[in-house]
Formats: sequence, C-alpha cells, structure tokens
Amino acid sequence: MRIDIISVVPDLLASPFSHSIMKRAQSKGLLDVVVHNLRDHTPYAHAQVDDYQFGGGAGMVMMPEPLAILLDKLKEERVYDEVVYMTPDGDLFQQRTANILSLKKNLIIICGHYKGIDERIREHYVTMEISIGDYVLSGGELAAAVVVDAIGRLIPGVLNDETSALFDSFQDGLLAPPVYTRPADFRGWKVPDVLLSGDPKKVDEWRHEQSLKRTAERRPGLLEDGIE
Ligand code: 6GU
Repeated sequence: MRIDIISVVPDLLASPFSHSIMKRAQSKGLLDVVVHNLRDHTPYAHAQVDDYQFGGGAGMVMMPEPLAILLDKLKEERVYDEVVYMTPDGDLFQQRTANILSLKKNLIIICGHYKGIDERIREHYVTMEISIGDYVLSGGELAAAVVVDAIGRLIPGVLNDETSALFDSFQDGLLAPPVYTRPADFRGWKVPDVLLSGDPKKVDEWRHEQSLKRTAERRPGLLEDGIE
C-alpha cells in the first residue's frame, strides 16, 4: 500500500513511521508512506498556502490552489482509492474503518491546519473525512499518524503470529483480556492459576469471559451493536 500525506508541517510526520511495526511494514515493502510539504507546491510567493477567510472572522484557511496542484499531480501518477481529509468534523475513526482501508492500494491523506481547507477541495477532491475523536488538535498530522499506524499494522503480511491483530481490542467487537508475563508471583501479586494450567481450552474460555466482563464494565455499548 502507498499512502501520500499532504502536510504544512511535514516534520511532525518524520518519526511516527520510523519505528517498530511501521518501520518493518516499510522495510518489507508492504507500506510506502510519502510525506509531501504543501509549501513546495504553492504557486504563491513566500510559500504561502493559507489566507484570510471570505466573510471575515478569525483564523486562516488553506487555499485551494496549492492543494489542487499537488492532488492533480499525484492523481496523474497513479489511481487513488480514497482522498482522505483529516478533520474534527469528519466521521469518527473506528477499527472497522481501519480494516477497510488496510485493503486499499493507494491513499492520499490531507492534514488540515488553521481553520481547515477551502470547502471546494472537500467538494471536488475529498472522498472520505476522518476525525479521531471529539477534541480539537492543532493540526491533522497527529491524527493522520494514528490512522496510518492503525491501517499499516493490518496490511496483510505486516504482523506475524506473535503480533497478530486477531485478538486486539475491538477486532472482534470486544475489549482485550488482561495479560501477564513473568514472574508468576510478583511481590505476592499472583498470575491467575488458569493461565499457568497449560490447558489451552480453559485459557481461551477464561480470556473470552474476561473480554466480555471488561467490555460490559467499560464499554457496555459495544455489546449491543458495536456503536456507542
Ligand atoms: Cl482529524 N484533526 C484535528 N485538527 N483535530 C482533530 C481531529 C483531526 N480528530 C480529532 N480532533
């Protein structure tokens, strides 16, 4: 999968994909993240990419022209499955969305800044709008990093048995069960006996019960329809 990210603060996106599973996905050739500095594509003097909003009011708006120039250039080079705009008024990002996007071939992600991007770009280029939660970030970059990480680890071949996503929280609509490692007795705090029993069926049953209990306690809405 190739993901092109359009940003006015590309430095914010340098580190998130350079470690751990995202690094491995890229070195295995399964994921290619290309970050574009929007300022390199503006036709305006002084690398201008934003301007005052028509109608007045505080805050700048990202101009349509630099975005359209870069989007046209990318779309000439390959076919994109989605043009995603990161914005707090987008659809709430969920595991379901990550699953769907992980099967795509080429994605563009536009990171909003200031008051956001000119509405005409949303109308004519953007195919999908994503928010990562009901709070406001100063830009879309950190949200884009969240989305790329959630998608990237699901690309077939990225995870192995040890890191499998099958038992992640949310993957089956439930929260993950508690986990323990050595020592079995830490300061007198003991690991549940069943996990030391060596009986995989009992372990599976216990984990499923714990998942249900945890979900009922913390996120009861997930048990009803998966939507809260
Ligand atoms: Cl995608 N962008 C910004 N700026 N703030 C957010 C967000 C996105 N999702 C939640 N808050």
